[in-house]
Amino acid sequence: MITQVLKPDAAAYDLASRLLRAGELVAFPTETVYGLGADALNAQAVLRIFEAKNRPADNPLIVHIWDASQLDALCEPSPTARRLMDAFWPGPLTLLCRKKTTVPNAVTAGLDTVGMRMPSHPVAREMLRRAGVPVAAPSANRSSRPSPTTAAHVYEDMQGRIPLILDGGACDYGVESTVLDASGDVPVILRPGAVTREMVRELLGACEVADSVMRPLREGEAAPSPGMRHKHYAPRGRLTVYRGPADRVAAAINRAYDASEGRTVILALSPHLDRYQGRDTMSMGESLLEAAQRLFSCLREADARGYDRLLAEAVSEQSVGLAVMNRLARAAAFDVEDV
Ligand code: TXA
Ligand code: MG
Repeated sequence: MITQVLKPDAAAYDLASRLLRAGELVAFPTETVYGLGADALNAQAVLRIFEAKNRPADNPLIVHIWDASQLDALCEPSPTARRLMDAFWPGPLTLLCRKKTTVPNAVTAGLDTVGMRMPSHPVAREMLRRAGVPVAAPSANRSSRPSPTTAAHVYEDMQGRIPLILDGGACDYGVESTVLDASGDVPVILRPGAVTREMVRELLGACEVADSVMRPLREGEAAPSPGMRHKHYAPRGRLTVYRGPADRVAAAINRAYDASEGRTVILALSPHLDRYQGRDTMSMGESLLEAAQRLFSCLREADARGYDRLLAEAVSEQSVGLAVMNRLARAAAFDVEDV
């Protein structure tokens, strides 16, 4: 199969909606990461997503809509979920809602809830509007690889496996949407993202973060979200994250760098780079927002440059920093050292 990469013009949108309605896959940009979309109401099409990504069948997909009028046919949002939709949609927030029977089990991996998301990216919205169907879409990477934040990343992973990638440039946030369970009294974040715990608290007065967000599941422990069970975001090189006071982190990273054999690189915020002079470094940017934006492309670039060892500074777990730390910890298979 030839994979076309097209700028989103009228002809490209046309092709995208024809492909989606014919049960084919289309990769598209969102404000978080690129998604790999299929008609959510077509179980055959949905199964193609799992094949193309090599994704375990027990990991459910998020359903993307462009207008709230599409909700009724698909799910029953709780009153709390409705308030969150009013406040944060369109935007990087996925809400788990009780599903209706119209949503195939292939989408939800047999769960009775479905993750619903209304993206704000204009290309995603125009594609969804023209397709006229809800679109199931995971991130458009091969399973366990870092999520794609550019069309080139998608091409790297999906070349020859899908017919079309809509190229909308680099994604704004760079980490996937916040996944939130608003079915109980207190909303619970299952995956942190750019709609932060602080923002949800501000709106509702309460918001918790599932404690398995920052640690591996214990043996036999039930995962609040199936994605927590699987290996994620991993670069090919081995990654360790160092957490603690800045001077101790720098000292520990430099010691590990100097003791390492093979090709090693240090990932740090740019204001800290001078602590690692004379060593190979990659900048995660100036701020937490930039770190979110750049993290996955840094991991891919480290692979492309042939590094087999990665040493990263931890970042603050405030606001969007929690999303960055969650991805870093998972990319490191939870090899996080407190120094
Ligand atoms: O930003 C995003 O959310 C991107 C863009 C494309 O929208 N999508 C994305 O999808 O990251 P994916 O499939 O890579 O991650 C979805 C996560 C998985 O960890 C999955 O286990 C969880 O959401 N999830 C989906 N539906 C769920 C459900 N019904 N219950 C619990 N967790 C669910
Ligand atoms: Mg993913």
